[in-house]
This record gives sequence, structure tokens and C-alpha cells, in this order.
Amino acid sequence: MSRKLKLGVLIHGVGGHVGAWRHPEVPVDASVNFDFYKTQAQLAERGKFDLAFIADGLYITEQSIPHFLNRFEPVTILSALAAATSKIGLVGTLSTSYSEPFTVARQFGSLDHISGGRAGWNVVTSPLEGSARNYGRDKHPSHDERYAIAEEYLQVVRGLWDSWEDDAFVGDKAGGVFFDPRKMHRLSHKGRHFSVEGPLNIARSRQGHPVVFQAGSSESGKRLAAISADAVFTGHDSLHEAQQFYREVKERTVAAGRTADDIVILPGISPIVGRTAQEAEDKYEALAQLVGIEQALAYLGRFFEHHDFGQYPLDAPFPELGELGSNSFRSGTDKIKKTAREERLTLRQVALRAATPRSPFTGTPEAVADLLTQWHAERGADGFIVHTALPGQLGDFVDQVVPILQERGLYRSEYEADTLRGNLGLPVPVNRYAASTVG
Ligand SMILES: Cc1cc2nc3c(=O)[nH]c(=O)nc-3n(C[C@H](O)[C@H](O)[C@H](O)COP(=O)(O)O)c2cc1C
Repeated sequence: MSRKLKLGVLIHGVGGHVGAWRHPEVPVDASVNFDFYKTQAQLAERGKFDLAFIADGLYITEQSIPHFLNRFEPVTILSALAAATSKIGLVGTLSTSYSEPFTVARQFGSLDHISGGRAGWNVVTSPLEGSARNYGRDKHPSHDERYAIAEEYLQVVRGLWDSWEDDAFVGDKAGGVFFDPRKMHRLSHKGRHFSVEGPLNIARSRQGHPVVFQAGSSESGKRLAAISADAVFTGHDSLHEAQQFYREVKERTVAAGRTADDIVILPGISPIVGRTAQEAEDKYEALAQLVGIEQALAYLGRFFEHHDFGQYPLDAPFPELGELGSNSFRSGTDKIKKTAREERLTLRQVALRAATPRSPFTGTPEAVADLLTQWHAERGADGFIVHTALPGQLGDFVDQVVPILQERGLYRSEYEADTLRGNLGLPVPVNRYAASTVG
């Protein structure tokens, strides 16, 4: 069977773009506007997208991205979207550093049932130090510690999701048998970070476990992905960089005793489609104009523990920051520092590039489709998570780029399955206890 391209949409209120809320096309309250989310999810479903993705964060300041100041909690909005859609997967971000595995296993287990097997969990470790102060903690755990917690956390959640074998709920009304106790399993986990007895008070859904996404790209992030994620959300500036990441994560996944097809790698892209290349450039420029240098500096600062970049001259070389940023968005801040050094960029250039990145996926529908095809064919990606600043951008992608991909036989014209796992081509995890009670 040919390898099909996968697509997701990041519904982000206003698309992750700092200034997009100012654009005439965007409702000013988009990040808390249910109709906005619903319309975007339904549009993506019309385009046969595998999934809709909700990002999240746990700490804000006056310097945060405007639409992060007022936004929906992911599982709540996804539950509502489950009722407004029927095929598209629903993936929400939830932090392993500031939550409890039992609660989170229940939340995604419930979303999985509500949506008929379409739930996904984007496991993040929370980059922002201030999150600790919102959760009564003295200190934000270090980068390594956060990943150690995440690893154990995932073992616990997956264990809890297996609490019930698929035929455990007998439901024999005449005989008065609600469930078979032999098919209920206690996890009895006692580890360094968590102690969880179980069982979970919800059964497995049709897809076994919700699909587990991982979204950190550092060494520890790649390790976590390889040992236990079903999908990876990542970001790359070039095909070469994407290929390196792709190869490494697939190799590590195989080394962890799984197959390369057990993990789906999806870089995020922000396509801008125009009838001509010039029209696409003009659309990009119009968006870039919405962001002033002060907002760009604030946006950049957020990645570096809300560092005040206002203190440096704008047109001097990007400042030397030492270790700043390595305990928060490590893979992102390492990349910013490296690019600034290699390309000898000024602070102004770094800030504007960060806040108004010009996607290589900018051009005519054919040009965008060609680049998607190339990244997919040359193993830079199994698919893409599309994030758009403007609702019209997603519409352009669905109406103009998707048909080209379909004509090329690279992308589905109909959903293959009605679970997220089914559409992504991922196996249903075997219940770890099932074999022990057979016969
Ligand atoms: C593409 C991508 C998307 C991410 N989305 C989120 C998110 O929505 N919420 C969040 O708290 N962290 C998010 N993160 C941050 C990671 O979870 C992680 O905490 C951070 O990147 C530091 O880990 P790393 O150095 O392994 O990348 C994202 C990271 C990447 C690369």
C-alpha cells in the first residue's frame, strides 16, 4: 500500500501569529469563540484532515502572545468539538509536569469515548518556569527532571488505560452480571514520582489507547518519543533539518523495539497560498506588517524565560545569552542562538523572524503541493500540522492544495477509518493483561 500523507490543523484561536488578532478577517475573540473553533474543525474535516490539534500553556504575563491571555482549556474545547464533528481526530495538549496521571488518563479516556475513538493527547513537559507558581510549587523542575517525570507518567497512564479488558463489561441484565472481575486489573504502580493503584474508572475505547503525541525536540524529547509516542509534532526550517530529525526518531524508535511505522512524524507548517507567487508574498507581507518590533521582542522573550530584550540595541549582533532558555524551550532556544550566530543576525532580525516567520510553504497551490510532496517523499515528514494565522488561509489550503494532493494519489479522498489511530495507520495497542486471561 502506498504511503499516504497525513494532515492536521492546529486551531490556535488566531493561528499562533502574534498580530493576527488585528487582521480584519479574524474575530477579535477567536481564542474563546466556540463558533470559530467549530468552523475551523469542520473545514479541516471537509478537507479530510486526520486531526485538529489544540496547543496550551500554563503561565501568562503581560508580555504573552495576546490570544494566549484568554483561551480555552484543551480537553474542554475538544469535548465540544467531538459533538460537532464525526471523523476528524481531536488532539489536546496537557502537561505531565503539572497534572496527575489518574485524572489525565480519565480525561482522555472520556474524550476517546465521547468522540468514538478520535482522541489524542499531546504530552508536553511545560517549558515556562512561571507555571510552578500557578501550581503551588517552589521550583519548576529541570529539563531532565521534567522528561524523567514524563516517562514514568506515560507508563502509568498507558497502564491505567489497560485497566479493563475489552470484554470486561458483560452487561448481562437477566443474569445480573455487570462486569467480569477477572477482566478488571489494578495497576499498583509505585515509582519514583507516582504511586497509583487503579483501576481506572473508564474502559478502553475502540482505538485501545488515545493516540499519544510528543512535542519536544531536544535529546530527551526524542528519547521519550522513541520509547512511547505514537506521533511527534515538531518544527523545521528546512527539508535537510526535517530529514535528520525524521531519520533519528525513526531509528531510535526501532532501537526501542518498535517498528518505524509505529510513529508518525508531523512537522508544523504555516502555508500561505496565492493565485500567483506574488499574491502569496503580498499576503505574507500584510501579516508581517501587523507585528511591531516591540511585540516581536516580547514574543522572542517568552522563549527565553520572559527575558527583556528591550535592553539591547536592536541593530547590534544578537546578544550572548549563555544558558538562558535551556530550561524552558530548549530545542527552540538552542536553534535561535545557533542561527543567530551562524548567520550573524541582529536582534531586530532574530525577533522579526521569530514573530513573523516566512514559511517556505508560501506560493501558488501547485508550488505548495510540490514542496509537501517532496518533504513527504524524501522522508522529512509523514505529514504536516498546518497552522494558519487567518481562517481564509485554511480555506485556501483545503480548497486549492488538498485537491492537488488527492489527484496525485498522495492524500485520501475519503477517511479510511473512523478512529484517529485507524486514519493515521497506527496499530491498536494490545491490552497488556488480555493474554493472561485468555482461556
Ligand atoms: C512543535 C512544538 C509544539 C509544542 N507545543 C507545546 C504546547 O502546546 N504547550 C506546551 O506547554 N509546550 C509545547 N511545546 C514545548 C515542549 O513541550 C517542551 O516543553 C519544550 O519544547 C522543551 O522541550 P524540548 O527542549 O524537548 O523541545 C512544543 C514544542 C514543540 C517543538
